Amino acid sequence: MVADEPGAAGRLEAAREAARQREVGSYARHIFLCTGPDCCTPEEGQRAWERLKTLAARVNRTPGAPKLYRTKVGCLRICEAGPVAVVYPDGTWYGCLGPENLERVAAEHLIGGREVEELVIGRNPLPREGAGRWLTPGSRAAGADRPGG
Ligand code: FES
Repeated sequence: MVADEPGAAGRLEAAREAARQREVGSYARHIFLCTGPDCCTPEEGQRAWERLKTLAARVNRTPGAPKLYRTKVGCLRICEAGPVAVVYPDGTWYGCLGPENLERVAAEHLIGGREVEELVIGRNPLPREGAGRWLTPGSRAAGADRPGG
């Protein structure tokens, strides 16, 4: 068991405390922003990341806006038209998220709840219903036959 590894219990407790401090469990959305180096230059990626940090703080201060968590990643395996990002649970993939386009995504999607269609490069929404169990396309289709499904 992983928890039996030497020192694992202490490290896990430290990580749980870090997660508590980051308020993990309170977020409605999570944005992963790629900062390059293949979809954009590292400099472009860093500029976008700095803007995203400011925008996420704005989103999280906006009354009624779904609380947002942000993460910088090294590659989302698109490697074109960066900075690339994905927003979950919506599963909206965006391209060309320089600082100005990030402003639009923050205002229209992250606060307003409407995707910025012209910047969307793909969609892969995660299932919202059935928390605690895995849904497959088949099980979702079966559920759709039930009253209220
Ligand atoms: S380097 Fe950004 S998606 Fe691959």
